[in-house]
Amino acid sequence: MPEIINLSSKIKKQLPAELVNFMRVAGEMAYSQGQSLYLVGGVVRDLLLGQTNLDLDLVLEGDAINLAQQLIQIHQGKITTHPRFGTAKLQWDKWSVDLATARSETYVKPGALPRVKPGTINSDLFRRDFTINTMAIELNPSHYGELIDLYGGRDDLEHKLVRILHEKSFIDDATRIWRGLRYEQRLDFQLEPTTLELLKRNIPMLDTISGDRIRHELELILKEEYPEKILRRAEELEVLPKLHPALKGNGWLAEKFEQARQLSSPDLPPVGLYLALLAYPLTNEENEQLISRLRLPRSLARTLRDTNSLKTNLESLADPELSPSSIYRLLHGYSLPAIIANSLAGDSSIARRHMQLFLAKLRYVKPVLTGDDLKRMGVATGPNIKEILNLLQEARLDKKITSKQGEEGLVNSWLARKR
Ligand code: CTP
Repeated sequence: MPEIINLSSKIKKQLPAELVNFMRVAGEMAYSQGQSLYLVGGVVRDLLLGQTNLDLDLVLEGDAINLAQQLIQIHQGKITTHPRFGTAKLQWDKWSVDLATARSETYVKPGALPRVKPGTINSDLFRRDFTINTMAIELNPSHYGELIDLYGGRDDLEHKLVRILHEKSFIDDATRIWRGLRYEQRLDFQLEPTTLELLKRNIPMLDTISGDRIRHELELILKEEYPEKILRRAEELEVLPKLHPALKGNGWLAEKFEQARQLSSPDLPPVGLYLALLAYPLTNEENEQLISRLRLPRSLARTLRDTNSLKTNLESLADPELSPSSIYRLLHGYSLPAIIANSLAGDSSIARRHMQLFLAKLRYVKPVLTGDDLKRMGVATGPNIKEILNLLQEARLDKKITSKQGEEGLVNSWLARKR
């Protein structure tokens, strides 16, 4: 008889009481309807590692949407359902829980999304990526807290190993190549030798993955605490060139990512800034290739294009004699992450200083007078308004005027000149 491991005291210790109560109630409700409910995936892994993870994933051998609808009545929250997949997301107060109907998957074609059908908890665990993610905890009252570990996940956690379940895993879904590197580096684990062999052999399968799915994986990487570690490992294993052959996961990138973190602290840097730094060494043409490989949405594509275009124009910002208004004029059309990326990654220290000045001060400088004020002072509606507002802003930037009276004086002399 395998040893029964009960994690109920760990659950109680590590998860907030509200979520623990939620799981108890959900387990009882499922049980009373003759169904079985389980806590699965990353949260189980992290419970065993003693790490905080509040993303509850529950799997039901039964109709998950139906159970979710009953549960949301207790919690008065929001429910989002996906009938095609038999999944539901519950959100109430500050909590969010995913409920899924246990399912099995078959991969008809490498890289495409799998065909799914209802299944048991065993088949649901078997469809997953790595052993450390295949553990589940029973939530039914009679077995509450009992660990289900069909594939040696706990052993692999102990030995700090990332191991796939079967040798076709990376062929079925090559995004697991990126996921494997992400877990390996996040947890400071190692890819188990056969897994590493298969990963290397199946790198060409990354070409079967759509831009949207690859972008999603890259975004997950850029949301990690130290994305540069994953990118360095990806370069070492020749996974990174599959994103684009000109990308580098080197020491330079690590230094820039660290600077981005210091700048963004206490938050993590936004994905767009990391991405702009990653793409920084690319030429314009390579940049376009990356944008289309990742099918970047408009705002991220703009960040990369702006970063590249500003990079090629940095010389004009490297003149030490530039006035604040000239710095403003050279920079204000670029998106913010592009300016920040260049202020971290640009070669010229003068240009960097000018960008820092823009970011910290110049971009906030505005005249006090508004378009309506100008009309009241006698300026005719039309392009004149914009012209004078620009004049006022320039004078403010260069500290030629520093008060409302100063602005009014400038408007009056403009009007006098026009008369
Ligand atoms: N999964 C998978 N193959 C994928 C994506 C996900 O097998 N390509 C499985 C994994 O077992 C994972 C679960 O689906 O545990 C949920 O996916 P996700 O939310 O991405 O992972 P978590 O483990 O919840 O999150 P984390 O990144 O913290 O591990």
